Amino acid sequence: MTGYARITGTGSYLPDKVLTNRDLESIVETSDEWIVARTGIRQRHVAAEGQFTSDLALAASRKALAAARRTPDDVDLVIVATSTPDMVFPSSACLLQGKLGVTHGAAFDLQAVCSGFVYALATADLFVRSGRHRCALVVGAEIFSRILDWKDRSTCVLFGDGAGAVVLEASDQPGILSSHLHADGRHAGILNTPGHVCGGAVQGDPTLKMDGGAVFKLAVRVLEENAREALAANGLGIEDVDAYIAHQANVRIISHVAKKLGIAESRCVVTVDRHANTSAASVPLALDVAVREGRVKRGDTLLLQGVGGGFTWGSVLLKY
Ligand code: ACO
Repeated sequence: MTGYARITGTGSYLPDKVLTNRDLESIVETSDEWIVARTGIRQRHVAAEGQFTSDLALAASRKALAAARRTPDDVDLVIVATSTPDMVFPSSACLLQGKLGVTHGAAFDLQAVCSGFVYALATADLFVRSGRHRCALVVGAEIFSRILDWKDRSTCVLFGDGAGAVVLEASDQPGILSSHLHADGRHAGILNTPGHVCGGAVQGDPTLKMDGGAVFKLAVRVLEENAREALAANGLGIEDVDAYIAHQANVRIISHVAKKLGIAESRCVVTVDRHANTSAASVPLALDVAVREGRVKRGDTLLLQGVGGGFTWGSVLLKY
């Protein structure tokens, strides 16, 4: 492996329909105050009927390609991280590739729930650095609103729909410096959507189930360990990280980890208030917002982290 894989453009997309905490008060017994205090979430976006994950991915991808000054023709690898694909198959990555009009290269979905984008970016990095592919489109896109139990206030207030994308290209300049991915399937029971398709119908419960307290504790622990692992592998201290972009599930998880790591709140990118937990889309959404708001500049050192169902978690440390 020679050279680097570097992010050359970012993009994101949120569906038009906004559901505020106040709107949710008429759906389940909850309050804006409770949701803000426990999670930091103020609103989420919800996909329109007939809008699918590959549509959200397409809108985000077009913006990322424009930012990278690339056309779909340049793309020779498409990876879509999602747990809510358009259909059982083909993959949403193939559907996205078709919508972009790309007819060459490889395309596949990657399923690691809320860690999906970090897993996909780490995967694309290896493909690009090996020289096998030159220009990858790496996307996180989800429509979690369709797998929620809208009668369960302990879960339905937490999630939203959206997509984020990056273009990752071969480069002589430093880009991705390291990735560290982990999974521990013993914790599959604390966060899952257990239904499956059988004989033309869904068998079992097709809505998201979560032990919120257990997820909170495990997420905080593994994110701290994983961040220290990434810093040690690169001989860096936390003060070297210009922006910390963790999975946007809950402001309290991000603040707990930031405090344990000793990273200033001002360096933590937080967008969960605007779009809730969009699972695999949350990290690229936050990255794109940070880039477009000027909080992330070329040459900055970024620590990206995902954590979620599986249980899965991982980091990508990079020079932007
Ligand atoms: N509105 C009002 N009250 C609620 C709501 C709601 N939406 N949901 C739960 N409550 C109630 C509970 O019924 C409970 O009432 P009780 O004391 O009368 O029994 C009370 O609020 C406290 O419930 P807890 O679950 O103890 O609240 P907690 O402070 O732990 O917050 C939360 C719950 C927000 C889910 C928290 O556990 C959490 O953030 N966990 C992490 C989960 C997460 O972020 N998951 C995202 C997916 S995983 C991932 O992406 C990594």
